[in-house]
Amino acid sequence: MSTRENQLDEPLLPFRTRQLNQVRNLFSFSSSNDPLDRAGCCKATTVILIVLFVCGVLALGLSAIVWKVYDDFDGDKNHTTTTTPVSPVCNKRIVGFFSNHQTKDITKIQLEKLTHAVFSYMLLFPNGTIQFKNDKARQRFSGLKNKARNTTLNVKLLISIGGPDNFEHFSEVIMDPKKQRTLTESIISFLKEQQTNGVDIFWKWPKETDKFQFTEFLKNLKETMKEEGNQYTLSITAPAAGIEHWTSGFDVDEIVEVVDFINVLTMDYYGPWLNEYGTPTGPIAPLYSGVGDRKNFNVDYTMHYYSCETKQPEKFNIVIPFFGRLWKNVKGAVEQGKEAFRDVHLKDNTTEGDPYMSRWTVEHEGWKITPSTWDEDSKSSYIYDADAKTYLTFENERSLTAKMNFVKEKNLGGVWIWAVDMDDVKNSLLNTITSDGMCSDSTEDSFKYNC
Ligand SMILES: *[C@@H]1O[C@H](CO)[C@@H](O)[C@H](O)[C@H]1NC(C)=O
Ligand SMILES: *[C@@H]1O[C@H](CO)[C@@H](O)[C@H](O)[C@H]1NC(C)=O
Ligand SMILES: *[C@@H]1O[C@H](CO)[C@@H](O)[C@H](O)[C@H]1NC(C)=O
Repeated sequence: MSTRENQLDEPLLPFRTRQLNQVRNLFSFSSSNDPLDRAGCCKATTVILIVLFVCGVLALGLSAIVWKVYDDFDGDKNHTTTTTPVSPVCNKRIVGFFSNHQTKDITKIQLEKLTHAVFSYMLLFPNGTIQFKNDKARQRFSGLKNKARNTTLNVKLLISIGGPDNFEHFSEVIMDPKKQRTLTESIISFLKEQQTNGVDIFWKWPKETDKFQFTEFLKNLKETMKEEGNQYTLSITAPAAGIEHWTSGFDVDEIVEVVDFINVLTMDYYGPWLNEYGTPTGPIAPLYSGVGDRKNFNVDYTMHYYSCETKQPEKFNIVIPFFGRLWKNVKGAVEQGKEAFRDVHLKDNTTEGDPYMSRWTVEHEGWKITPSTWDEDSKSSYIYDADAKTYLTFENERSLTAKMNFVKEKNLGGVWIWAVDMDDVKNSLLNTITSDGMCSDSTEDSFKYNC
């Protein structure tokens, strides 16, 4: 019996509903000294950026026309150039996931900072068809689509199928050739009807016995996409490597040749889960470091695995969590000098807290996010309140800078955001990761890991 298999048992859950009064406001609410506020400053810079952006858009428009003309004369629909849109301010992929349950509006301002906007999650039925979860999800997608289709934007629109709460039928569908075909057809007709640019498959997580068919499915799907003559994008979401046998259902070497990119779930290494793995506390997505059994539970370890396995780091995106995470009943540090990792008192084998707290909730429930403690080893920020016994961890400007530098340094493809609609009203985190200097200005293709 594995001791770890439940650790990431509930990643990306829709967040647990809570009574507001269950949460004590430990700090007086103030956002004036929020370092993220500075992200949106400097009118002059903004004007210059807008001018540059407009020029960029014009240039892109022209080249799009040229390409269109070229394509029309080309005739050969099978040319393999895969054009990945590049964010106006960034040379890396900025893949923004939008959840179907958040209420925050999806805006054009968000979309113009993304290379890909991904609507998540579509349901997969046992007969192989895909559907919206409900009418609200359909409307939310429709709003997103209308904004993304604005010709001034360069963003690609994708849907993600599956997710942590809707993966139970994948195996059954993939294993049955008829149902697998239905799924492929269902995807293609959705992409056509809804003028969508591609699909992400989030299956948590294929077993070793599913491995072969999963790869076959992806190959067939990509092949069918090519036959449609349209440059559809195909991506998958893959688990953090190095944790038990989670990657054993993924034939990474084959998959990497088929898909356009892979979003790695480099997070949830620590969380207030509803089981005994809710202790200790720790960063949501630590770049480095770890404690005890979890010494390899970090982004670097995971990306080292994928990069060395495939030698194609540019195919992989790491996640940027836009939510905060809260533990209650927190005790002392697990080890002296590792203050970010703290024991949590378990009640009936479970923890109390909030694993996915949107920035809006953080603000509106009066949680202060400055001054925070910086953990240099993991390059993350947190606030431990010894009196209230709470521990809150979240990304800030400093941790985001570390992550974006990591992406550049390791020559990764970019980042994926869970989720754009969990940011605060000012889109502070999105603004920070797409601000000047955060992104790579060169596309250097050298391989960076020491395998
Ligand atoms: C597949 O199942 C769903 C849900 O039961 C149903 O609504 C749909 O009509 C089915 N589609 C086909 C093609 O059988
Ligand atoms: C596209 O965006 C521009 C600028 O925000 C707006 O004026 C225009 O109406 C939009 N077009 C469509 C088709 O929504
Ligand atoms: C807590 O859960 C573990 C593993 O499921 C089990 O072995 C243990 O007996 C449980 N402890 C309590 C107090 O329920």
